[in-house]
Amino acid sequence: MHLKTPRSGEFLLLLETGKQTMKELDEIKEELKIDLNAVATPEGLDLIDTKFLGKQGKINQLFKTLPIKTDPKLGKQINDLKKDIEAQIAEKLDYILNSSKTATFDVTTPGKEQAEGSLHLITQAIAEIESIFLRLGFVRRRYPEVETDWYYAEGLNIPKDHPARDDQETFYVGDNTVLTAHTSNGQLREMELKKSPPIKMINIGKTYRRQIDATHTPMFHQFEGLVVDKDINITHLLGVTEYFAKAYFGQDRHTRLRPHHFQFTEPSFEIDITCEVCSGTGQVDKQNCKVCKSGWLELGGAGMVHPNVIKNGGLNPEECSGFAFGWGVERVLMMKTGLPDLRMIYSDDIRFLNQF
Ligand code: PHE
Repeated sequence: MHLKTPRSGEFLLLLETGKQTMKELDEIKEELKIDLNAVATPEGLDLIDTKFLGKQGKINQLFKTLPIKTDPKLGKQINDLKKDIEAQIAEKLDYILNSSKTATFDVTTPGKEQAEGSLHLITQAIAEIESIFLRLGFVRRRYPEVETDWYYAEGLNIPKDHPARDDQETFYVGDNTVLTAHTSNGQLREMELKKSPPIKMINIGKTYRRQIDATHTPMFHQFEGLVVDKDINITHLLGVTEYFAKAYFGQDRHTRLRPHHFQFTEPSFEIDITCEVCSGTGQVDKQNCKVCKSGWLELGGAGMVHPNVIKNGGLNPEECSGFAFGWGVERVLMMKTGLPDLRMIYSDDIRFLNQF
């Protein structure tokens, strides 16, 4: 039916056709969606491609039935849909190809092993020692490893020309500066810090001496205890020593004091602990114990803080007294574990370190 004027039935007819086409576009979109959801193989996707985009496909059918010449907008919409279908099919193909890759991934293939780290055994030992003294009310401190002669020696009652200086093969890093050969520098520093009793500190740190053999390394660790208060006496030192020995080594261990000499303590002692192998008897099967020979193993030095040191720390030795001890972390660790050579600890051999 052809009418002459533009606002005629022909125009209305075109409008009707346009509406119809829009509906068909929507239907195609919907159908495509359903098809794409269902398809799982590239071959299936080929069929969809032909169905919508092939010569006899739905898009071409649409073009054929459309009065494009009179409604270019519609033509553009169909073209856009065509491009959209192409893109969707390409995207689905990509997805299928990729997921088929994942499907062939062998989930039983062993993964890359993650090496499990742990704290170094010295770090573990320090943590254990620290926790024992914290239980007794001590405070953990860290004092300088690079120290002036005063805190390291002079202030600890060791004069410049005193032979006691020779005992410790010290690393000098300047005329007046050393790498601390013991943690006793912490005694003076703690007294200065606290200014008055009570003092109850454990200073754990690195120490340095010019030495190396199976039981000595140039760098090692010490833990230094210092207790200062009114009426502190040797029994307090004994109590703390016994507590540590039992907590760290085992309830069946005992300690004893043996007279010794240090410039900064008076009286001075070496602390011994009963040998684990012979339980302090010195005998195994009627033979001398091979580990200790005497029943006792040496733990380290201790003593009552020398009045001069208390004075040098800024406190009054008439009003307070104290005890101090300085023992080796590596040493107690070796005594506890039976490690034959201290140098193993610093060998960085992962097979060795893994055992702790
Ligand atoms: N500083 C001494 C040493 O390194 C140990 C010690 C500390 C002795 C405190 C007495 C008191 O051998």
